[in-house]
This record gives sequence, structure tokens and C-alpha cells, in this order.
Amino acid sequence: MSDSSDQVAEPYVMNGGEGAFSYAKNSYFQKATTSDLKAMVDTVIADHLEITDVSDPIRVADLGCSVGPNTFQAMQNVVEAVQSKLSKSNPGIMPGFQVFFCDHTSNDFNTLFMSLPPERPYYAAGVPGSFYGRLFPDSSLHFVYSSYALQWLSEVPEGLVNKGRVHCTNAGDNVCKAYATRYRTDMSTFLMCRAKEMAVGGVMVLMMPAKPDGVPLGKIPICVMYELLGLSLMDMAKEGKVTEAQVDSFNLPLYITSPSEIMQLVETNAGFEIVNMELLNTLSRYGGQIRGREIVMHLRAGLEGLISVHFGSGIIDELFDRLARKTEGSGSLVDMTYSKGNLMFLVLKRK
Ligand SMILES: C[S@@+](CC[C@H](N)C(=O)[O-])C[C@H]1O[C@@H](n2cnc3c(N)ncnc32)[C@H](O)[C@@H]1O
Repeated sequence: MSDSSDQVAEPYVMNGGEGAFSYAKNSYFQKATTSDLKAMVDTVIADHLEITDVSDPIRVADLGCSVGPNTFQAMQNVVEAVQSKLSKSNPGIMPGFQVFFCDHTSNDFNTLFMSLPPERPYYAAGVPGSFYGRLFPDSSLHFVYSSYALQWLSEVPEGLVNKGRVHCTNAGDNVCKAYATRYRTDMSTFLMCRAKEMAVGGVMVLMMPAKPDGVPLGKIPICVMYELLGLSLMDMAKEGKVTEAQVDSFNLPLYITSPSEIMQLVETNAGFEIVNMELLNTLSRYGGQIRGREIVMHLRAGLEGLISVHFGSGIIDELFDRLARKTEGSGSLVDMTYSKGNLMFLVLKRK
């Protein structure tokens, strides 16, 4: 298979296991989103999913599932919503369900498999590999779900000169362009692969961090955190704990998209129509306040592996401690940032 996912690099995974710094223990923002958006996902399935052959199993994929428990909640919701739809349209006939839990091969699939809910209404399978490549046979999937995963680029944009920063937030034009180019190439590949893998009438629900058009990254809470992470590393460089060259050559492969960018990508890559695209304000439940230590634990669960590979694991405790203090000390900076519309809820239907 020429477009197989084996050819895609995959160094970024969340902290595995169930320890204090694990993703399983530090992903409750994502968990809250899964429950908040259940009703929206139910409506999408009821109104837009088309299943023509109920003699076949229904195949559902969660792309970027990590280690749970959020993926189990999400997949249970999806399967129940499809069952409810089919029990009305085809009374007396209920196909079997297969759920594919997909993530990088280095994801902690052992923890995922060991914590699978014993009473689940589907057959479970793990699919290792990058979603920026092919993962499934042609026309085999009915429903694709992805939550908080598509902000990860396939790799850091090439040839970046990004002095004293670790992201494109507040960076120069060349750096911003390099990030945008990488993102557009990745998302085009993602859409192309899914267009081949999904059956006509199938639906994708994609949730990813995003920003309203025209709002600079420097006003987005998560991007402020990336900026503070860069500043913490630079403080450590001044004390000789890391080198400036190490900081300059480290960049986060994370991207925050916007509605106009997504609209253009979907229009250019035939295969899907946009059924719904909304920006939701998931931070409103926190009253616009970002609590320093909590958000830092979330960042650590996601970024520790990546930072350790570049700087060594010896700096991790101190770095995140400094970041927590900086975040608390920058309360007004973080609180002033634009907290509206930070999560995109995107529904695409296979034409
Ligand atoms: C923040 S976690 C989200 C987990 C879960 N969906 C949730 O909502 O809690 C992002 C996951 O996406 C995975 N991921 C990132 N890029 C990926 C790629 N190219 N292919 C497959 N998985 C990827 C990461 O390994 C990680 O497990």
C-alpha cells in the first residue's frame, strides 16, 4: 500500500498509565467536553448519518483515542445513538458494532485495553498508526470521531528559525507561514485518506481547539500557555540548565485552526460536505478563569514525552513547576485573553 500509515513519523503521545501525571488522570477538560457535547453528537447521528446496508456490521473509529477513559464514554454514546436511530428506521434488525480505537503505535494501548468497559455494546479493536495516513480499507467506515487530536501536526514544520519561542504564537511571519503550510498539507492528507475510507453517507464529528477568524494567537488561552512555556525554558537557559540553542531548535507541533481555514480545506478537498461548523466556548464553565496548576498538569500529560526527548527528562519537574508559578503570576494576562470560541465542533458528511 503506497499511502500506508507506516511511512508517517509518530513521536507524540500522551503520558500513559494511570499515575499522577498520566493523561488518564489529567484530561478532565476533554472529559467535560465529551459529556457536554453528547446531545450534539446524538443529533448529528439522528439527522445526518445514512446507513444503507444493515446486514453489515456498523464500523466506528475514534482517531487519536489516547488511553481513556474519555474515548470509552464517547464511543458508548456514539453506539447508543446509532442503535437508537436504527431501532426506529429498521425495527427488529440490529447489526453488530465494531469500534476501532486508533492512535500512534507508541500510545499506551495496554492501559487502553485493560480498562475497556466489560459491558460494552461493541467489539473493540486497536488500530495503530497515524491518521495522516491510510488506516482502513476503502469505504469501510460509517462514523468517524476525533476529539482534541487534530491540533497535532504530523511533524514540526521544517527549517524553522524561532529564537526564544517554542510555538508560532507571537512569532514572525515566516514561522507562522511554516506552521500554516504544514497544517494545510496535513489536513488535506487527513481528508483525502478519510474520503477513501468512509462509506457514502458516513459522517465525521471532529472536535479540535480553534480560534475565531481574525483573533491573534497571542489572545488564545492555550497559546498563552505555550508562550509561558517558552519563557520558562528561556529562564532555565539563562541559569545554564538548558542551552539557548536547545530552546531555539525546539518547537511544538501544535496548531490552532479557524473556521475560514477549515472551510477552504474542505472545499478544496472534494469528498465531504460541511454539515455543521461551530465554535464553542468550553472555557465558560470555568468562568473565564484558567487555574494555573490544573492547566499545567494537563499540558504536562500531553507534552512531557516530547520535551523529554529534546531536553532530557531531568528538567521536567523543574520546568513544569516554573510554568505553574509563571501561570499563577500571570493571572491577569491569562484571564484577559480571548476565551470565546476555543473549540471547533465540525461535522463532515461523505458525499
Ligand atoms: C489530547 S489526546 C485526546 C484523547 C481523547 N480523544 C480525548 O478527547 O480525551 C490526543 C491524542 O491524539 C493522538 N494523536 C496525535 N496525532 C496523531 C496522529 N497523527 N495519528 C494518530 N493519533 C494521533 C495522540 O497520540 C493523543 O493520544
